[in-house]
Amino acid sequence: MDEKADIGLIGLAVMGENLALNMADKGWRVAVHNRSLDKVDAFLRDRAHNKPIIKARSLSEMVLQLAKPRKILLMVKAGAAVDDLLDRLIPLLGPEDIVIDGGNSHFSDSARRSLRLAEKGLLFVGAGISGGEEGALLGPSIMPGGHEEAWPEIEPVFSSIAARAADGSVCCAWLGSSGAGHFIKMVHNGIEYADMQLIAEAFDILRRLGGLDPEAISRIFSHWNQGDLSSYLLQITADILAKKEEGDGGMLVDSILDVAGEKGTGRWTAIAALDLGVPAGTIAEAVFARAISARKAQRVKSHTLLPGPQPDTTNPPDKAQQDALVQDAFDALHGAKLVALAQGFALLQDANRQYGWDIDQAKVASIWRGGCIIRTAFLDRIASVFAERPELDNVLIDPAFHAPMAASQTGWRRTVAKAMQSGLPVPGLASALSWYDAYRSRCLPANLIQAQRDYFGAHRYERNDRPRGEFFHTRWTEIGHRDPPNPSDSEEDR
Ligand code: 6PG
Repeated sequence: MDEKADIGLIGLAVMGENLALNMADKGWRVAVHNRSLDKVDAFLRDRAHNKPIIKARSLSEMVLQLAKPRKILLMVKAGAAVDDLLDRLIPLLGPEDIVIDGGNSHFSDSARRSLRLAEKGLLFVGAGISGGEEGALLGPSIMPGGHEEAWPEIEPVFSSIAARAADGSVCCAWLGSSGAGHFIKMVHNGIEYADMQLIAEAFDILRRLGGLDPEAISRIFSHWNQGDLSSYLLQITADILAKKEEGDGGMLVDSILDVAGEKGTGRWTAIAALDLGVPAGTIAEAVFARAISARKAQRVKSHTLLPGPQPDTTNPPDKAQQDALVQDAFDALHGAKLVALAQGFALLQDANRQYGWDIDQAKVASIWRGGCIIRTAFLDRIASVFAERPELDNVLIDPAFHAPMAASQTGWRRTVAKAMQSGLPVPGLASALSWYDAYRSRCLPANLIQAQRDYFGAHRYERNDRPRGEFFHTRWTEIGHRDPPNPSDSEEDR
């Protein structure tokens, strides 16, 4: 009888193919299946030629090919396709077989699927996988969560294919129960959206306020990438900005339509933050920024209709002014990026408390240090802070971040003010700064909001000269609510 395969993989789009090749290169025998079998044949003929990768003509054939307990990695489009596949796969599997969903599924779907498989005695793992095509092939960051009994079975495979951080540690760890893995991947993507938006705003400032061309900005970003701001996204942006069109030598970035796409994970992060009441405005603004970019026709029309300043590109600043602007933009990106990361981790912290996942934030920061799209030098510091202080509500509270936040302030404020005065939209940088100022405000005008709520709806308010939890109502007008408000309406502080 043929040697059994160690793992099955269903779905041979680029991520699936590259993960199969990555596993085969680490010595695992992989059975692969795809809805269209031509795809499997082409893969085996071409990229998988002479590798320990075998064809499964059907799901039932794959089940027979796999060693027990069977491990099957689904790399199909998130949503209905995963459920359809599970409908067909579940009846073929036996006790303790393991199904891993490696796509960008919504965490609530993964939680539901965990229950569904558990009812059949099967194990389910929702594993976020980050790093794009290249990461899948050479080493992604992997974020598994679900039925923990599955972990000892899949750990050797996952650890062998995952990226390594600079200190050699593996960028894959068991992260928690139920939907935890996909929640963490979702938050990763929310931070990814924010980071991309912040870098795009820094580019816009340097270009339209600083009068610098893409190649000059590419050099600036490469330089920034040597220090504290070092990140995969900044590095690829420097590459992108240096890329010329084939033939005529123009810069490619200038020919790309300014309409950003999205597949939903950033939006889900913003929705999760709203659902949990976590202030994560910079992540949400990054989603909205893509949405406003997509309204290209409306923007073109309102450009001629709506009054306001336009950045003056005819009068570029002199060298000294340019240097100052570059330094300020660096500070702005530095401060705002830390805020975006802090918002993402605060969302994880609150979700963890709410859903009881037992997520270790230090572990999350640690496995994001290699392989994934948001890998950045800051994650080393964040991982150390959470290792020391796992219960911290917000990572910026730790003294490790006080000096960097102090250093970035002035330039960040100048950048936002200048952009706003010039009519240059900076929703990411500005919202991050407002978040920062609100988060360090002893007093906010929420007292007035409470008074307004009490005025029109008798929603009651707490007083700052009385203990928390005691609620008051004022009869603001003659026809205002006369009755004392219902104590069951009392509102807790979050
Ligand atoms: C990753 C990426 C990956 C994918 C995003 C793109 O971590 O490898 O996040 O999952 O590129 O889904 O998302 P948008 O199409 O929504 O920008």
